[in-house]
Amino acid sequence: MANLWSGRFEKGMDKIVEDFNASIFFDKRLYECDIEGSIAHITMLCEQGIVTADEKSKIISELNNIKEEVKRGEIEFSVHDEDIHMAIEGILIKRLGDTGKKLHTARSRNDQVAVDTRLYVKKEIKNILDVLNYLENVLLEKSEKYYDKIMVGFTHMQHAQPVTIGFHLMAYFQMFKRDMERFIQCFDRTDYNPLGSCALAGTTIPIDRYRTAELLGFKNVTENAMDSVSDRDYILELMSVGSICMMHISRMAEEFVYWNSQEFSYISIDDGFCTGSSIMPQKKNPDMAELLRGKVGRIYGNLIQLLTVMKATPLAYNKDFQEDKESLFDTIDTLKNSILILAKMLEKTEFIVENIQKHLNSGFLNATDIAENFVKINIPFREAHELVGKMVKYSENNHKQLEELTDEDLQKIDMRLNKAMLPDLSMEGCVNGRVSYGGTAPSEVQRQINKGKEWIEKI
Ligand code: ARG
Repeated sequence: MANLWSGRFEKGMDKIVEDFNASIFFDKRLYECDIEGSIAHITMLCEQGIVTADEKSKIISELNNIKEEVKRGEIEFSVHDEDIHMAIEGILIKRLGDTGKKLHTARSRNDQVAVDTRLYVKKEIKNILDVLNYLENVLLEKSEKYYDKIMVGFTHMQHAQPVTIGFHLMAYFQMFKRDMERFIQCFDRTDYNPLGSCALAGTTIPIDRYRTAELLGFKNVTENAMDSVSDRDYILELMSVGSICMMHISRMAEEFVYWNSQEFSYISIDDGFCTGSSIMPQKKNPDMAELLRGKVGRIYGNLIQLLTVMKATPLAYNKDFQEDKESLFDTIDTLKNSILILAKMLEKTEFIVENIQKHLNSGFLNATDIAENFVKINIPFREAHELVGKMVKYSENNHKQLEELTDEDLQKIDMRLNKAMLPDLSMEGCVNGRVSYGGTAPSEVQRQINKGKEWIEKI
């Protein structure tokens, strides 16, 4: 069987070449976008007087039939179809004859694949935003529940200062908020109609690109046909934003893994998100959290793959670009699933506050509070730091907590010191005092939560 483009060819492709060339087995998932694009295109061609109303109606109704048949799994694509664009047009022509042959007027597969992919990316960004929205709501809910429950705050994985669990979780809320903002910006830059750019240079046929933009729900029309058919920035942007988002997911997943360890026992991940060992009967492993960490590899890999594909490609369209799809689809699928799994896992997780608080009396978490109090009584900060450093050393040597130091101890450390110079050194005292904007005081965490809620409601 001849291909739709085979007029100038003397022989067909070798089987192995046909297999190598075909994208149908992965780009068939663009079928709805492809048909949507074709319907807008033929509608515009009719309005411009390029095809008749009768031709337009026949084509639209057959395209809708094809769409339903593909949806019901009644159409089996073959390697001979090459790609989804050829496949659908081929079926149309088989069914409508000469009328079907009019659809591809003033259009090339180059602008067709560009419009299909942009439509697809726009739809999927909305889906990604939906799951991120769900994750953010779970984070807000958990943060509120634990807004004043104190835990160790770390730097360098060393005990640093006390914070609240809600505060720690709200840090993730901020990361995913920025991700959502980035996805929205990525959506806006994708929201340009490339249809009507044709092969690379536009067309002599009097088309109306603004009309197809309107019909397809694009806010804008691309400016330069050559750029339109060779631009894959919007895919790279989704992959970049997706990589950052996945990096955030991996950070949280890692915390789930160590919080769930016997050493920490801060949480016990719900059974539904763990698996057992084939040999050790007692094991309950945090596999989903580990997989979330591991899945980052493919998201970064996909970005680097497409950047490499696009590198140094000359203008305009090159077949190299067909290599954008598998990695794009994989990024979208992996990202949506990962966000959802993380959200559901967090939703089912309760913090074991009692265990968490057992860790609070090691590591001199209240040392900074003493230094800050010294500042309040007019000791310059660097000197205060030095003095508290000595207090820590003394306490360590004498197996005491800072709050256990007596006037006698303090005098031994430095003649200027006495107990009245120390602030409330309880963990509550330390946390409650951190009311600076963005700080960890429960009142401040509640403000952050309220602001987060307002933001998510408006988005
Ligand atoms: N399957 C192709 C792709 O994904 C469609 C565009 C092909 N255009 C062409 N002139 N061969 O890039």
